[in-house]
Amino acid sequence: MKSVLLINLKAYEECIGVGALKIAEIAESLANDKVEIILATQPTDIRTLSENNSIPVFAQHVDPVTYGSRTGHILPEAVKNAGAVGTLINHSERQINIETIEKTIARCKEIGLRTVVCTATPEMAKEIAVFKPDYIAIEPPELIGGDISVSKAKPEIIRNSVKNVADVNDTPVLCGAGVKNCEDVEKAIDLGASGILVASGVVKSSNVKEAILDLLAGF
Ligand code: G3P
Repeated sequence: MKSVLLINLKAYEECIGVGALKIAEIAESLANDKVEIILATQPTDIRTLSENNSIPVFAQHVDPVTYGSRTGHILPEAVKNAGAVGTLINHSERQINIETIEKTIARCKEIGLRTVVCTATPEMAKEIAVFKPDYIAIEPPELIGGDISVSKAKPEIIRNSVKNVADVNDTPVLCGAGVKNCEDVEKAIDLGASGILVASGVVKSSNVKEAILDLLAGF
């Protein structure tokens, strides 16, 4: 299985519409056989990215709803129809409760959307593994958006999450928060992660191409 570099575009101004497309084009130019680069984008940009680019596109959130009389929810079928191949679930900035996590994973499985379920602790990682998502991502919230990476500041969180999940099944574990460079990635991989989630390290970089290249060098 390929390692994963998931770039979360969040709601950064630089990454809406044309900005998202520019990052997708750079990512596409750097695609290789070893690392799968994924972009998690705003729902309104999923179709533009997926129709103009070969990089896999994820939603940042979906709700466990079905077709029908519902308003303001993100229907999994709608993001799939727009071209998304997966979704983040329970990102630290879009948290849901454990029952809703379970239901959302189940809904996504029904229609073949891949799932990356985020959590802040090794204990929760173990609980979530039981629902068999495609990936579990460990992100300590206090390090998100900062300059010190999870792999340097809290290596034990990655190590313990990998161990806890392996006690349940073989769900691959990703990690993120403060990841900025090749050394951060290398450390994460050494600790047992199968890939990383990154946002500001790419989006806020003055040279997005160099930033992605540097991260790829750490795999
Ligand atoms: O989803 C990835 C994210 O929360 C990490 O953000 O800015 O610390 O790379 P950042």
